Amino acid sequence: MKRIFLMLSVAVMAAVSLSSASFADGDAVKGKKVFKKCKACHTVDQGGRKLIGPNLFAIVGANAGHMEGYKYSKALLASGLTWDEATLDAWLKKPRALVKKTKMTFSGLKKDTQRANVIAYLKTLK
Ligand code: HEC
Repeated sequence: MKRIFLMLSVAVMAAVSLSSASFADGDAVKGKKVFKKCKACHTVDQGGRKLIGPNLFAIVGANAGHMEGYKYSKALLASGLTWDEATLDAWLKKPRALVKKTKMTFSGLKKDTQRANVIAYLKTLK
């Protein structure tokens, strides 16, 4: 009985991860190249320093405002966002459309594939 339950929950988990497949097919290697656009403002190493923007180590799955000691805008802190594929996709498309008064002055990545790739890269930072 326990086994059947286990198999069922594995199946459910597989179904859940499949349903978000539209975000899951990014290429982290290409994403690392796309990330060059972000490097002027963000470090990615564990414990890395802040630049204009916060360090982005382990950002996927974290809550908005995840870096201690970085002075975020009030707007971002009040957003209550968690950085998953969907919120990151919206953020990277047009930061100001998601959080109107953010201080991330980045116009956005217009191409869907660029965003998917850079998100795949961000997922490797853990
Ligand atoms: C011109 C500098 C700049 C560039 C370029 C930039 N960012 Fe940012 N980023 C910021 C700033 C500033 C913040 C803090 C925003 C706030 O507090 O409102 C931020 C915040 C973030 C956050 C939220 C971090 C947290 O702890 O909640 C993510 C995720 C992020 N940036 C990803 C990216 C990615 C990926 C790129 C490249 C595609 C990028 N940024 C390009 C300046 C920049």
